[in-house]
Amino acid sequence: MLCPYSFHDFNIYTARVNYMAQNINSNLSSSKAKVFAVTSGKGGVGKTSISVNLSIVLAKAGMRVLLIDADMGLANVDLMTGVFASHSIEEVLNGSASIFDALIEGPEGLTILPASSGIGRIFEIGKGNAALFKKELLQLEHAFDIIFIDTGAGISANVVDFVFMAEEVLVIMTPEPTAFADAYAMVKLVFTQKPEMKIGIVVNIVRNESDAERIFTKFNEIVERFLEKSVQFRGSIAFDEAVSEAVMRQIPLALLASTSPSMQSIRKIARNILGIKIANKKSLFNR
Ligand SMILES: Nc1ncnc2c1ncn2[C@@H]1O[C@H](COP(=O)(O)OP(=O)(O)O)[C@@H](O)[C@H]1O
Ligand SMILES: [Mg+2]
Repeated sequence: MLCPYSFHDFNIYTARVNYMAQNINSNLSSSKAKVFAVTSGKGGVGKTSISVNLSIVLAKAGMRVLLIDADMGLANVDLMTGVFASHSIEEVLNGSASIFDALIEGPEGLTILPASSGIGRIFEIGKGNAALFKKELLQLEHAFDIIFIDTGAGISANVVDFVFMAEEVLVIMTPEPTAFADAYAMVKLVFTQKPEMKIGIVVNIVRNESDAERIFTKFNEIVERFLEKSVQFRGSIAFDEAVSEAVMRQIPLALLASTSPSMQSIRKIARNILGIKIANKKSLFNR
């Protein structure tokens, strides 16, 4: 555990940890959280923006949602949600803080496990770190309905270890050939190591839905042909200036422009990943 700077800080710190622990312990359920890893081959394709806004939409609909920033060194969840982090996932990974120490409250009752942004070095995850973190995460599985892990890009251990903690992987890609090829590298790695993994695809920054479907169909054909597996289409998001405006203003899009076309697409993705049927669509995510 980190040494607090002063007695005053210490009081705020203990009060916050107690609040999070109480809140979580009084809100347990018998069902286990569904864990999604949001990942990509290529960087800058919209992982954090999609993770943040999916999390807020579901939290707003009354679900208990935990968003984990696992993009260490290039952490962005705190910046995109405007929260201030005093502890981080790096400390949980190296055992100097418990997961309860590091949880903070985000918008709409969302819980966030932040990472340290701008530290200028990359935390190298070792086998022991991943196992320790998984154990910490298990303590929370009855406290949440959904857990999103926003990972870094690429197929390094830092990313892949988090990907394998999930039940379903959401691979984000864009129409760019580089993003397509790198997404394939990620899908290949996941299926090679864990053939039973469920993989969903989101095509971001498209011109329209039919473009996205065409890109997905081509992608899935390649996966079927070379890996003899298939991936699921989870949705697409068109290019929308509001997405970068939200990032610039450090206000999540779900709060800044909740009726924007890209937010409608995020809601559609939320319904797709949870398998919600048409009949329930309106009542759950119409805000
Ligand atoms: N649908 C979109 N329309 C327009 N710009 C987008 C869209 N999705 C993402 N972006 C832009 O791409 C940038 C990178 O997104 P981000 O979520 O940080 O990606 P990643 O987490 O994959 O690195 C954002 O700052 C935003 O400006
Ligand atoms: Mg990111």
